[in-house]
Amino acid sequence: MAYSGDRMRALALSGWLVAAACSQAPTTPPPAKAPARAVPIGESNIAPADYVGPDACGECHPTQHALWSASLHRVMNAQAGDPGAVVGDFSGAVVKYRGGEVHFDRDLSGYLVRTKLGDSEVTYRVTRTIGHRGLQEYVGVEQGRTEEVRLPFGWWPRAGGWSPQVAFDPWLDEASFDPFAPVREPWAERCPWCHSTYPFAQRIARASGPRAVGHGLEQYFETAPGSDRLAVAEQVTTGISCESCHLGGRAHAAGAGITAVPQAPRREGAPSLPATFAEQRADATVVNTICAQCHSGPSPRLSDGTALRNSSEALDLAASSCKAKCTDCHDPHVADSRGDEAKAVKACIGCHETFAAPEHAGQGHATTTCLDCHMPKLVMGIDRYVRTHRISSPTNAALLTEGAPNACNLCHLDRPIAWTLDELRAGWSVRLPASIEGAYGDAAVGDVWLASKTPAIRLVAAHAYARSPLGRYALDALRRGLTDPLPYVRAWMQFALDEIER
Ligand code: HEC
Ligand code: HEC
Ligand code: HEC
Ligand code: HEC
Ligand code: HEC
Ligand code: HEC
Ligand code: HEC
Ligand code: HEC
Repeated sequence: MAYSGDRMRALALSGWLVAAACSQAPTTPPPAKAPARAVPIGESNIAPADYVGPDACGECHPTQHALWSASLHRVMNAQAGDPGAVVGDFSGAVVKYRGGEVHFDRDLSGYLVRTKLGDSEVTYRVTRTIGHRGLQEYVGVEQGRTEEVRLPFGWWPRAGGWSPQVAFDPWLDEASFDPFAPVREPWAERCPWCHSTYPFAQRIARASGPRAVGHGLEQYFETAPGSDRLAVAEQVTTGISCESCHLGGRAHAAGAGITAVPQAPRREGAPSLPATFAEQRADATVVNTICAQCHSGPSPRLSDGTALRNSSEALDLAASSCKAKCTDCHDPHVADSRGDEAKAVKACIGCHETFAAPEHAGQGHATTTCLDCHMPKLVMGIDRYVRTHRISSPTNAALLTEGAPNACNLCHLDRPIAWTLDELRAGWSVRLPASIEGAYGDAAVGDVWLASKTPAIRLVAAHAYARSPLGRYALDALRRGLTDPLPYVRAWMQFALDEIER
């Protein structure tokens, strides 16, 4: 059902009324068992006035607040002046690049990036950081101007520090990348949509325009088209905080229930979504769509849709047959990718108990986990290769025929494909057409991938060798990769060589 503009205004208005009521609310939290009001269906949770910010939530939820405070979500986007925000070297570092120089300095008022080529010089004052651990990029304002723009160099510790965008951003090509020309695209047209917290009404509005970002719940709601540019002045926090996922919580902080579903007019044909948070957290569609606001970035993909770059986790999981939720394997308040393998295996077994028997994994695989065969490392992360979120088996005939990476040969790099097909038949009763062999011949599958026309496949193979005891057999091919025309391929070939030669 579509609603009229009057209905929209009424929703926005109720947000204001709640805000006014809340300003008289006591500052001491009620006892944790205080009964919440029924969820106020129809009460707005998406307008600017509906948001209270994480510190207000923290008064009653210190546990979640403490976990989130230490999480990467919080620091995904920060003001350059926040303590500890800037990790790059601004102590006078100078980078020489394509006949010019880039200087990274500090003065009393903050951080400066200056690009110099011939007589032309551009100076930016850094205003914000984006990213923190694997890569940090910067937003700044050019001297004499007011627009915040994304700066052309980032701090990439894995590559030794300051790197031009083309080295870590495969979307850019070197020929058209000119770091010495002043940047004009406002950063607010892209980055903060996935790296900050702002009223969800803005996201719904953008979803009706041509440059919708993400695949969150916004797609189900009706509205007039909004701007491609985030209204930065309305940001709730510069980084990702409670209300990015929980939506505006002012009414809840004043005693009402809380709902993660936007209270706004639905689009015609939109699915009906559960009303209470207790039901929502148990619903894979709702939970995954919350995360899909941001974990749904564009990526080069295999022909079945599997992403080869990270940030697309929600789209990959949605394409899997498993009705798993992000929260089956991740605590959203911690959102740390590094310590959750055991939790993930437990989640697999929770739904597929019979496959936990050692016979299913087969001989030689005492330490090979479900994830190794069903979530292999196909994805270029920020600074390492990571697992795909497309849960599947290494038995897809179309992918095998195309010479796409398969989980078995990512470890058994030295085996020809005929061996793999035989073992799949012997061990798992999977019969695959012999015509698959045409794409490989008798060669070791790892070497076929290293010679692939597709850069992403060459890199998946390079990093499989880097993890493998067979790594030194690939040294020559990896060294040839250092002269690849694509700068990001050269960078990632170097990372693989470093791992093998370490
Ligand atoms: C004044 C205290 C208070 C504040 C402020 C507060 N909460 Fe709560 N919250 C509660 C209480 C009490 C409950 C338990 C209600 C219940 O179980 O019915 C709760 C429950 C929740 C739940 C679980 C709801 C459910 O139905 O299971 C979520 C999620 C939540 N709060 C998120 C937030 C967020 C996000 C904020 C900040 C926007 C926030 N809270 C601010 C008191 C507060
Ligand atoms: C569609 C949502 C989306 C958009 C738009 C987006 N990002 Fe991201 N970005 C992500 C996600 C999700 C991650 C986390 C990647 C992962 O772990 O899968 C990420 C990670 C990063 C990181 C690495 C963080 C770290 O700590 O290592 C940087 C740097 C970054 N993004 C910069 C940018 C910049 C600059 C822009 C704008 C040009 C941008 N992003 C736009 C979703 C997005
Ligand atoms: C990245 C998204 C995200 C962020 C950020 C986030 N939450 Fe949550 N939160 C969730 C999800 C999803 C659940 C349901 C978790 C589950 O079912 O395992 C949840 C559950 C909760 C609950 C219910 C109790 C529990 O822990 O399961 C409370 C209370 C809560 N969040 C408060 C907060 C507060 C306060 C903040 C900010 C300090 C916050 N959340 C930040 C996504 C988020
Ligand atoms: C508002 C955008 C946004 C939302 C919503 C969001 N994320 Fe993220 N998430 C990011 C960005 C950006 C990063 C990059 C952090 C990094 O890698 O440093 C990230 C990083 C992560 C990481 C990896 C951290 C690491 O150690 O590399 C996990 C895991 C994660 N998010 C899970 C979730 C889950 C689960 C949800 C839903 C409950 C969710 N996120 C919702 C933007 C978002
Ligand atoms: C919430 C439950 C749940 C979780 C968690 C889960 N799965 Fe599944 N999985 C399913 C369901 C349901 C199907 C579809 C079953 C069917 O079609 O018979 C499925 C399908 C599969 C398939 C067949 C996929 C295909 O398209 O060929 C594989 C393989 C699989 N799961 C492995 C895993 C692994 C490995 C994990 C852990 C990383 C996992 N699953 C986690 C429920 C789950
Ligand atoms: C050494 C590799 C390997 C390991 C380890 C492994 N599997 Fe499998 N699994 C396979 C193969 C191969 C198949 C057959 C797929 C087919 O029939 O297309 C399969 C099939 C499955 C299926 C059925 C898929 C379907 O198409 O019906 C599920 C579910 C599954 N595995 C879950 C798991 C779980 C859970 C674990 C960990 C406890 C696990 N597997 C560990 C290789 C493995
Ligand atoms: C079946 C378990 C499972 C589910 C479900 C799951 N993840 Fe993960 N996730 C993992 C594992 C395991 C890793 C570690 C991968 C690695 O380090 O190679 C991971 C890593 C990540 C990372 C870090 C990627 C990077 O580049 O470092 C992000 C971000 C992430 N998950 C987000 C999500 C989101 C969002 C969802 C829901 C759409 C989700 N995950 C669902 C198991 C899961
Ligand atoms: C995480 C790495 C890994 C994955 C994934 C993996 N294997 Fe293995 N596999 C091993 C290791 C290690 C051994 C034991 C050492 C050896 O004999 O090479 C082994 C042993 C074997 C053996 C018995 C010894 C031999 O070499 O004949 C067979 C057969 C086998 N694997 C087939 C497969 C098949 C088929 C798949 C895909 C369904 C697969 N493996 C997936 C690592 C892996």
